Amino acid sequence: MTVDQASKRSLQLTADGQLRHFLTLDGLDRALLTDILDTADSFIEVGERTIKKVPLLRGRTVVNLFFESSTRTRSTFELAAKRLSADVLNLDISTSATSKGESLSDTLLNLEAMASDMFVVRHSQSGAPHFIAESVTPGVAIINAGDGRHAHPTQAMLDMLTIRQHKGGFEGMKVAIVGDVLHSRVARSQIRALNELGAAEVRVIAPGTLLPTDVESLGCTVEYDMQKGMKDLDVVIMLRLQKERMEGALLPSEREFYRLYGLSRDKLALAHPECIVMHPGPINRGVEIESAVADGPQSVILNQVTNGIAIRMAVMSMAMGGQVSERNQKQAGREQA
Ligand code: NCD
Repeated sequence: MTVDQASKRSLQLTADGQLRHFLTLDGLDRALLTDILDTADSFIEVGERTIKKVPLLRGRTVVNLFFESSTRTRSTFELAAKRLSADVLNLDISTSATSKGESLSDTLLNLEAMASDMFVVRHSQSGAPHFIAESVTPGVAIINAGDGRHAHPTQAMLDMLTIRQHKGGFEGMKVAIVGDVLHSRVARSQIRALNELGAAEVRVIAPGTLLPTDVESLGCTVEYDMQKGMKDLDVVIMLRLQKERMEGALLPSEREFYRLYGLSRDKLALAHPECIVMHPGPINRGVEIESAVADGPQSVILNQVTNGIAIRMAVMSMAMGGQVSERNQKQAGREQA
């Protein structure tokens, strides 16, 4: 383990190896990732009950702090917290105090003063959740819901849960991630998770303009020709073109991109016949994926969404396992006295 990985591990885990924050998959080992998947498995059944609630976070306050828009991630975090019986506060930062000039640190101090136990943070700046985790009161958990191009660890874990459900595990699995890897926090976290969990091969398929320099160092092979790249695949993960993060012209046109890298029925036919099709959403039909494939029998895109709730319940309950913030401990002490 590198010094960088060790420091990420120590920030995220308590001395006895329990999850304290969930910021990145860097520094987290196979045993812990498997523990998250197993815990999520146990929560799937809760979502199938008439009364979809367990009391694990009863009395705890979770704040969804989204500095960047989101539908799936924010709503599944909210449902996950509610199914764990937590009280949930959703803050749309674009309409809140930061737009009146309050600094991020001051916003957080105010939210901490409301005795929050957990912040779920999405931010366009890579590293923002990490920064918050370093400054927050000990015992308050920070969960990264996607930061810049850096990481989206709960998305990668819900993807791993979906692969494990459909394929039984990771051994021998050949997985490709296709499209805009350059701007994708999802791809970075997926590559890390797949390597740690023992996939046989992680391949990225994209034009050179949509790949980070030295992409192989993330732990993948590279294929520029999608026709060749689809061969023998067990899992194909499509990515959205992150146009909001593109500076300058990286693509000739969406039409041309679709022709070369869009997942059509023809291209899917080149993969293993039981290859599953995944996408973190939101999908752009006719840009990175053909409708007939997105809605077809090999697509597990909506299973990913359902699994997002179970994974988020797992991560939230593990990060809160026995933790009470120092502030709330003092408060409880005063109440008892
Ligand atoms: C992803 C994200 O926001 O990084 N979506 C998601 O969380 N479901 C991917 C994307 O926006 O394309």
